[in-house]
Amino acid sequence: VRRSSVQELLHSQELEREVVVKGWVRTRRGNKYVQFIAINDGSGFNSIQVVADAENFPEEKLKADGVENGAAVMVRGKLVASQGKGQSVEIQASEISVYGKADTETYPLQKKGHSLEFLREIAHLRPRTNTFGAVLRIRHAMAFAVHQFFNDRGFYYVHTPIVTGSDAEGAGQMFRVTTLPDQNPPLTEDKSAVDYKQDFFGKQTNLTVSGQLEGEVTAMALGKVYTFGPTFRAENSNTARHLAEFWMIEPEVAFNDLQDNMDLAEDFLKYLVRYALDKCQDDLKFLNEQYDKELLGRLQFVVDNDFQRLNYTEAVEILKTAKQKFEFPVDWGTDLQSEHERYLVEKHFKKPVILTNYPKDIKAFYMKLNDDDKTVRAMDVLFPGIGEIIGGSEREENLEKLTKRMAEMHVPEHDLWWYLELRKYGTAPHSGFGLGFERLILFVTGMGNIRDVIPFPRFPKSAEF
Ligand code: 4AD
Ligand code: MG
Repeated sequence: VRRSSVQELLHSQELEREVVVKGWVRTRRGNKYVQFIAINDGSGFNSIQVVADAENFPEEKLKADGVENGAAVMVRGKLVASQGKGQSVEIQASEISVYGKADTETYPLQKKGHSLEFLREIAHLRPRTNTFGAVLRIRHAMAFAVHQFFNDRGFYYVHTPIVTGSDAEGAGQMFRVTTLPDQNPPLTEDKSAVDYKQDFFGKQTNLTVSGQLEGEVTAMALGKVYTFGPTFRAENSNTARHLAEFWMIEPEVAFNDLQDNMDLAEDFLKYLVRYALDKCQDDLKFLNEQYDKELLGRLQFVVDNDFQRLNYTEAVEILKTAKQKFEFPVDWGTDLQSEHERYLVEKHFKKPVILTNYPKDIKAFYMKLNDDDKTVRAMDVLFPGIGEIIGGSEREENLEKLTKRMAEMHVPEHDLWWYLELRKYGTAPHSGFGLGFERLILFVTGMGNIRDVIPFPRFPKSAEF
């Protein structure tokens, strides 16, 4: 008999047949007549119950063989209807073998729940918990939905470089790439004597902060494109919303203006949340019960309601007259902090907000200048519990205006000569945005810390892997 996945069996109508499953023991309990072993193989949230009668599998033997929480096992048996509540089928075991034991004394994942902080220290084992299994499956589903959404709409997926000579945001928050001077330095060599500042074949390079500029290059040929890859920020932000390495999805569309860009962002986010509600029911139900009873309601709300759209200037007026005391004061020209963003979303409008037309001085050099000469065609999408989930804009397509902005903002032209040529040859209006993938996963899972929605988080002082 071929091995089945646990999920296949849980949804199977074909009973009274021999099946084989392989997975990890989640629990073993029972009495001297019968033992119940829950097996999970990661194929879905739910485990399958294996029933082992004492005649063939006395508890002492199961113990001696190591059929305990955490062990990797193979079970052969008959798939039958289950009398127990909460499951429709179970396996009556005829054979149980153990690939690898997990010593009950030392196995770090005990049956009692563990704090998320503790689990962060054992990133190599936390995928085996209910919580991280759910988060990782949802993360996969969202990545898949991203490609589905764009593919269905005629966008092309473009791969943009990780190692780059330019600073796409002009904010200087980059990690430098260096080459070791000797490919195999002797292990005993005094490290302090080694010059680690060597660069990329004679050129100074960094890890990318965004694929946007290369996205613009390809949008100017393929029309509708998106990138989806890792990005890096050397900001020393020890917050629950920032990572040093995160994934970003950046669509870029030729001939789209700011309105089109907002429509695309709203459609995209609604599509992703609806997809999760449709396809990740078991995992979401668990997260809703375990951590956040309002999660499912909040997700449904986002799918069902229009986002509030308003200008930065209008938002500042609302914030200045707000009853709430803010840690950071607001005045026209200041960048909004997440406390302000969350006030607008959670207290004032009580729905997602798209804020547009920010002051030019607090936004990136590439954003299109408005006729007022003070604001740019920026847009940030703000979400409940998150704050900024998307940042984007219409791009400056006029060569003179762009070079003027770059000079004002001290963005060196010589690094971006190719970017400027896009404005020299066949320039056209175009717009795009970046969705922080982990911020999306935070919203969809209801988790409170961004370090818990990526398998191996990178942040200041993150370690091990
Ligand atoms: O607002 P940002 O910096 O915009 C850009 O990078 C543009 N190039 C995007 C574009 O127009 N193509 O970042 C976009 C999004 C933010 O809204 C946020 O969701 C996420 O990326 N983000 C981070 N997520 C986790 N950790 C960080 N340090 C992040 N910085 C930004
Ligand atoms: Mg931003």
